[in-house]
Amino acid sequence: MTVKHFLQLSDLARDEHHYLFDRTRHLKSLFKNYVIHHPLQDRMLAMVFEKQSTRTRVSFEAGIHQLGGSSINLTRGDTQLGRGEPIEDVARVISRMVDLVMIRTYDQSIIERFAAYSRVPVINGLTNQYHPCQILADVYTFIEHRQSIQGRTVAWIGDANNMFYTWLQAARLFDFRLHLAAPEGYGIEPERVTAADAPFLNVFQDPMEAARGADLVTTDVWTSMGFEDETAERKKDFADFQVDEEMMALAHPAALFMHCLPAHRGEEVSEGVLEGAQSVVWDEAENRLHVQKALMEYLLLGRQAV
Ligand code: CP
Ligand code: NVA
Repeated sequence: MTVKHFLQLSDLARDEHHYLFDRTRHLKSLFKNYVIHHPLQDRMLAMVFEKQSTRTRVSFEAGIHQLGGSSINLTRGDTQLGRGEPIEDVARVISRMVDLVMIRTYDQSIIERFAAYSRVPVINGLTNQYHPCQILADVYTFIEHRQSIQGRTVAWIGDANNMFYTWLQAARLFDFRLHLAAPEGYGIEPERVTAADAPFLNVFQDPMEAARGADLVTTDVWTSMGFEDETAERKKDFADFQVDEEMMALAHPAALFMHCLPAHRGEEVSEGVLEGAQSVVWDEAENRLHVQKALMEYLLLGRQAV
């Protein structure tokens, strides 16, 4: 039997994502009504963190517990990974002992190698290339507030990073337009975009033009994890790329603002926008819990009745 992994958003088909969104709504409602739901009783999730985390750590740990299972938290430093044990060996050992693995690491090839040797599903909890759990939550949050994302426009203000490339996969999957405005030198890597992406993507030099008319404006930290050496340079290069009230005023009047968090007020987003009426960042963060519960249940048990 082949094992289903979630290494990129596009690993699941559109109808599987729609199932997950329906299931998320159901699981969220159970949670809000204090209904016990333990389909993953006695199942064990191993979490491997090679980078820091607040939301991913808490949402996966709380999520597996709420589904009746439990988790083990591993970091490179306190495992033999830190002493050079090959990822293929670690994958074969861990996946004989647990039911599910979530990994946050650097290069996508690390989770691909892990998955190739794993007996159990592997979930990408962020790599340098993709952050699929976050975009699952973001698209769910948009649908929760605005019914459908199909045909809408999402403006990405910032570098073409792991979040951006996952949004691009989402644009193709869910049929919406993605606007990108990145500072010079931080734009798309041509080899990561194909002709099939073109109908879904518009690239702008001016972030104000990218935001104009958008249904969702979203951004991210100027310096992603692993790029800390570039922080000072990025602060200069990104200075004109803050999502502020002036930019939000150009978006559609009903536009939402999202940020995967953690946020740096006064850098990529103004205090007023982050805390303003159009911001749904706290719902977005909470929905990490609910979408990932639906995802874990799906990867282990397949489709459920609701
Ligand atoms: N958005 C997100 O993934 O947050 P953490 O880095 O805190 O997990
Ligand atoms: N692009 C950011 C997302 C953090 C959740 C990073 O990779 O650090």
